[in-house]
Amino acid sequence: MSLLISRHIYTMKDDIIQKNKLLVLGKLTASLLHEIRNPLTAVKLNLDFIKMHKSDLPDDINNSLDDCYKGVLNIQNLVEQFLGFSKKSPDREEYISVCDVSDAAIDLVKQRANKLKVKIEKFYSDNVPKIYFDRKKLLQVFLNLINNSVDSFTDEGSIKIYAYNAAENGKIKVCWDIHDNGCGISPEDQSKIFEDFFTSKNEGIGLGLGLCKTILNEYNAEISFTSEANKGTIFRVRFNSNGLS
Ligand SMILES: Nc1ncnc2c1ncn2[C@@H]1O[C@H](COP(=O)(O)OP(=O)(O)OP(=O)(O)O)[C@@H](O)[C@H]1O
Ligand SMILES: [Mg+2]
Repeated sequence: MSLLISRHIYTMKDDIIQKNKLLVLGKLTASLLHEIRNPLTAVKLNLDFIKMHKSDLPDDINNSLDDCYKGVLNIQNLVEQFLGFSKKSPDREEYISVCDVSDAAIDLVKQRANKLKVKIEKFYSDNVPKIYFDRKKLLQVFLNLINNSVDSFTDEGSIKIYAYNAAENGKIKVCWDIHDNGCGISPEDQSKIFEDFFTSKNEGIGLGLGLCKTILNEYNAEISFTSEANKGTIFRVRFNSNGLS
């Protein structure tokens, strides 16, 4: 057997082993997240109960309570995101405003951004047409992209989010862009960021962008980016417009 063929067989074997490992890891994670879901619901219900007595509590306790509540919502979102990724959930499409969903995502991330002194600004054009999409899935996409931008800072920074419509290749597209002046993505990493389990973060999983791409592909929407190490990153999302505003 030539050296070239045997090397090729080894690479194929490695690929199969790696794919099996990822499959097992995926199943383990899914069952773990299932287990997390129930106690998390209990925690949220208890926080709901305490929030009903909001007026009896001092302001600092109420602020801590709000922080806990937002944290639980964030975890719940991540859990749903992963479970939705491994098991195809039924779509609930409707005509939705990209700006409304973008605002909801910013709201969920705001607390964490404030702590890092990361300023999030938004620039929405008037009359951005509605798009036909699953609201929860769009929220996942925006959350992933905004969280990635927040993660690109160790300290203060600036994130700018734009929503507008523009003609591209003779078609009207609804555009949503996020600009950050964070750490940027090195040229070597740029080809890998959409791969599952690629992460440069200590606490990252490396599924966010893969998930964004899967969701956007499902709706014929596109995602692209440009980035420069130590300067910042721009992610651009393009949706088909149906003319409704
Ligand atoms: N705005 C950004 N600035 C700098 N690097 C980024 C940005 N967005 C993505 N990246 C790079 O792409 C990698 C993959 O992103 P992805 O969202 O898929 O995974 P992750 O954020 O590492 O983990 P998670 O699964 O928790 O989202 C990141 O680890 C990071 O290296
Ligand atoms: Mg991410």
